[in-house]
Amino acid sequence: MRTKMVAGNWKMNKTLQEGVALATELKEAVKNPSCAVVIGTPFIHLASVAELLKGSPIKVAAENCADKEKGAYTGEVSAAMVKSTGAEYVILGHSERRAYYHEDYAILREKVLLALENGLKPIFCIGEVKEEREAGKQNEVVKAQLEGSVFNLSAEEWKNITLAYEPVWAIGTGLTATPEQAQEMHAYLRSLVAEKYGKEAADNTTILYGGSCNEKNAAELFANPDVDGGLIGGAALVAEKFLAIIAAR
Ligand code: PGA
Repeated sequence: MRTKMVAGNWKMNKTLQEGVALATELKEAVKNPSCAVVIGTPFIHLASVAELLKGSPIKVAAENCADKEKGAYTGEVSAAMVKSTGAEYVILGHSERRAYYHEDYAILREKVLLALENGLKPIFCIGEVKEEREAGKQNEVVKAQLEGSVFNLSAEEWKNITLAYEPVWAIGTGLTATPEQAQEMHAYLRSLVAEKYGKEAADNTTILYGGSCNEKNAAELFANPDVDGGLIGGAALVAEKFLAIIAAR
């Protein structure tokens, strides 16, 4: 049985003090969740939040890591450095990284490999923009994203990958994908994984939905057989909302 998961993506929000306060609130409320719970925080929060969540079922994710191992890359944070904070996951391939920081297939391929080499589990994001959906090209877009950056992995490495389908037109817009659209795409993604790594690997792959998933629509989205949980942006910044989404899973 694959892991069900609710993961938060705080993006560039919360000072360190605000982040620690939110993580503390979540820790107090999440004792025995029925799914895996992960919070993705800015780099500067990782060590403090991982430390305070010791003994809690909540795990910590970085929102990025460098595509280089170490050295003279001013301002970058390596996968080894992320791992040393106590974080277990790293969100990679988010559409904001692709669009604003020019992360292409090759860069993401390096990031995924370095994350895995350093014992981090990637939450790998894929998804089409509005024009691509309108042109009916969403399937070919996500297939190219997988082939470009993660289908080079071995079957053994694949076991550490979580996928997040995040249609770009749904992120932060309030235009959530319908449960039917999410299910259709997740089933397609699972079929691609099955073609590449076999049916068992596909059945064991966790595929999250992200894009204006909130406390009101989460249950309906999660009710679909191929939607294993959510990657939550805005609604992960408010404890009450994030907790309601966890409860919906
Ligand atoms: P959103 O963001 O929930 O605010 O739409 C999701 C994401 O970008 O991961």
